[in-house]
Amino acid sequence: MNLTMACVWKIILLNIFIVSGRSNVSKGYFWHISDLHWDPSYDVGGNSASKCASSGGRPTPNAGRFGDYSCDSPWTLINSTLSAMKGILPDPDFIIWTGDDTPHVPNEQLGVEPVLRIISNLTHIIKTTFPKTKVYSAMGNHDYHPKSQMPPEKNIIYEQTANLWHDWLHAASKETFKIGGYYTEKLLNQTGLRVVVLNTNLYYDQNKLTENIKDPADQFSWADKVLQDAAKNNEKVYIIGHVPPGFFEKKRDKAWFRKEFNKRYIDLIQKHSAVIQGQFFGHHHTDSFRMYYSSEGSPISAMFLTPGVTPWTTTLPGVIDGGNNPGIRIFEYDTKTLLIKDILTYYMNLTYSNVVHERWEKEYRLTEAFRVPDASPASMHRVMERISSDKCYLQKYYEFNSVNYDLTECHSDCRIDHVCAMREVDFEAYEKCVVKEGGSSTAPVLFTLLLSLMLSLLCLN
Ligand SMILES: *[C@@H]1O[C@H](CO)[C@@H](O)[C@H](O)[C@H]1NC(C)=O
Ligand SMILES: *[C@@H]1O[C@H](CO)[C@@H](O)[C@H](O)[C@H]1NC(C)=O
Ligand SMILES: *[C@@H]1O[C@H](CO)[C@@H](O)[C@H](O)[C@H]1NC(C)=O
Ligand SMILES: *[C@@H]1O[C@H](CO)[C@@H](O)[C@H](O)[C@H]1NC(C)=O
Ligand SMILES: *[C@@H]1O[C@H](CO)[C@@H](O)[C@H](O)[C@H]1NC(C)=O
Ligand SMILES: [Zn+2]
Ligand SMILES: [Zn+2]
Repeated sequence: MNLTMACVWKIILLNIFIVSGRSNVSKGYFWHISDLHWDPSYDVGGNSASKCASSGGRPTPNAGRFGDYSCDSPWTLINSTLSAMKGILPDPDFIIWTGDDTPHVPNEQLGVEPVLRIISNLTHIIKTTFPKTKVYSAMGNHDYHPKSQMPPEKNIIYEQTANLWHDWLHAASKETFKIGGYYTEKLLNQTGLRVVVLNTNLYYDQNKLTENIKDPADQFSWADKVLQDAAKNNEKVYIIGHVPPGFFEKKRDKAWFRKEFNKRYIDLIQKHSAVIQGQFFGHHHTDSFRMYYSSEGSPISAMFLTPGVTPWTTTLPGVIDGGNNPGIRIFEYDTKTLLIKDILTYYMNLTYSNVVHERWEKEYRLTEAFRVPDASPASMHRVMERISSDKCYLQKYYEFNSVNYDLTECHSDCRIDHVCAMREVDFEAYEKCVVKEGGSSTAPVLFTLLLSLMLSLLCLN
């Protein structure tokens, strides 16, 4: 039996002992989608070796109707994604959409007008598919021209985007959005519930415009006040954004935020963790999560990174075969407390859909796959510990990470990259984790050896 099959059986046996305590009271559902990256140049009927501009010249011999792993999304994939969402859960309470709409092409091939046209087109298909649904939408670093250069002040793109999202934004939200690309409102106008949509592109180290600014667009002090007021008013809050703090789990030492911004973001979460019930981000195109701990070390918040719709294989040097299948996900939550109860991820096997027929299928349900009661910070900490210490869970997580695209085995260096990225958002703590997990002293090595021996007995019989 191979590792995957052995693991499947192990989990099935363990699941038999779970007492299902799920209750239906005050349960709600919402979608989270991210990184659609529409490439209008994709042309499967074209006669050049590459069927799209976003491949950057990489050949695309297997390009099909729904796309190619070297390209951003063709319109058929965008359309199929929205149709699948409509079919699976037609009436969600709301939708979270965390940006990156345009293709990975050089700035010279885009411009303010093309970028706005693409944002407009995607806004339109979401709005026509879900005409009565509230959408909480954040800008991605690709939703600006030139890319990633989001200014900490008024500009035409924030202004036009706020107009495109008019139906989704309250008047006050539109005002702050035009100035800094961020906003807050009561979740679905309900007392005691709130969303905070951030423009974390201001903290991205590629953004030259915010390099020497302490608090770009005053977003940190604004968020601090919003969260302080939320605590005063007994509100629970979801935080939404595009570029996440911390590290990319597919490349050692690869962070996105500037150092000071990373620190300040963590401080903000630690200070206000009592009101924050979840953080929802994109940008990685992968399926992962990040843990936040109190200074005493207890889990206080989880950040969920949703996979991308685009299957585009990253060109980031050092990442080997970093593609993914298109993924979308549903969160089950408690409509009174905003506790995340479960996460359901659906995906399209791109190869299958191109060759056989269009198909979206369930990939996994968090509570089943990782045997936890919900997606609370304590539960996500347990998930992380299981992934860290049990190679069955590590392998399962690893396959989910690329939405069943990369099914190779996650070995020890791979394990360190993923576990330390999940566990430590702070730069120094991450470095320490890498050293520690690398096994520089003998006691952990012996322990790990013993543990993996026991686990392989469990795993492979
Ligand atoms: C929902 O839960 C309540 C109480 O927990 C129960 O009385 C009711 O029958 C349940 N409804 C459904 C459709 O399961
Ligand atoms: C979009 O999806 C709908 C529903 O599946 C389908 O009827 C329509 O032909 C699709 N349009 C395009 C342009 O692919
Ligand atoms: C978006 O672009 C697609 C493909 O070019 C087109 O079929 C569709 O009509 C456009 N929609 C809007 C609202 O512009
Ligand atoms: C929510 O509140 C805003 C601002 O008060 C209002 O414009 C909007 O119509 C309300 N929406 C619903 C669905 O009640
Ligand atoms: C995706 O589809 C291809 C073609 O049918 C198949 O070979 C592959 O095993 C599928 N991948 C998964 C994860 O099911
Ligand atoms: Zn992206
Ligand atoms: Zn991005």
